[in-house]
Amino acid sequence: MSDALAGLHIPEHVGIIMDGNGRWAKKRGLPRTIGHKYGAQNFRKVTRYISKCGVKVLTLYAFSTENWKRPPEEVSALMKLFKQNLIDLVTDFRDDDIKVRFIGDRSAFNKVLIDLINESEEVAKNREGMVLNIAMNYGSRDEILMAVRSLCRDVQQNGLDPESLTEKDIADRLYTAHQPDPDLIIRTGGEFRLSNFLLYQCAYSEFYSTETLWPDFNEEEFNKAVIEYNKRNRRFGGV
Ligand code: FPP
Repeated sequence: MSDALAGLHIPEHVGIIMDGNGRWAKKRGLPRTIGHKYGAQNFRKVTRYISKCGVKVLTLYAFSTENWKRPPEEVSALMKLFKQNLIDLVTDFRDDDIKVRFIGDRSAFNKVLIDLINESEEVAKNREGMVLNIAMNYGSRDEILMAVRSLCRDVQQNGLDPESLTEKDIADRLYTAHQPDPDLIIRTGGEFRLSNFLLYQCAYSEFYSTETLWPDFNEEEFNKAVIEYNKRNRRFGGV
């Protein structure tokens, strides 16, 4: 961890919306897919640094349920990139003991990618370091719908009393079940929106947006976000 963070409170769970790959490439006169390639390289570098800082859970938004609307060439380039990266990722993260998990509806991917996702989780399952949630074909509304369906089934088939339901019953049915809510959400690329990312879990998260495009986001940029986070007065609705 860098000296810049000495004595600061490190957020337990950080979420990152990795935006700006396309613009990064366009600025250099390159195809958007090259931006994603550099974005994927950066994803590995930044993950390792964040794990060294003592963050317990990192959730990275790699592909949303809405990203299928992109041109077919871009979607297929992204799928290819996911495959290439997943093969190396798990070994790459071994030294840092990073436990890789995937959140989102993996059934929409092709069999090769589904197998890679399952294998990556299996290989890393006993690791005890930072948990890395990679959100792929993830959409928060879809996740909430899945939780609602599961609750309805329990009411219908298992005699669950709707009046007894608590917020925890919902949280326990999300992909992030049993993980702390995100403390800090970082968005690169300058926009100020959540884009269907962890909507239920973000109720009291601090939001940080930076103009920096994802392929340029680095250790120093992460430090800046944590320094800003330390200035926030989190009241969770209290005074
Ligand atoms: C948003 O930038 C980025 C994405 C939709 C893809 C993010 C994917 C990666 C960084 C690769 C991750 C790799 C693995 C292995 C999970 P954009 O295309 O919307 O950029 P723009 O706003 O400039 O157009």
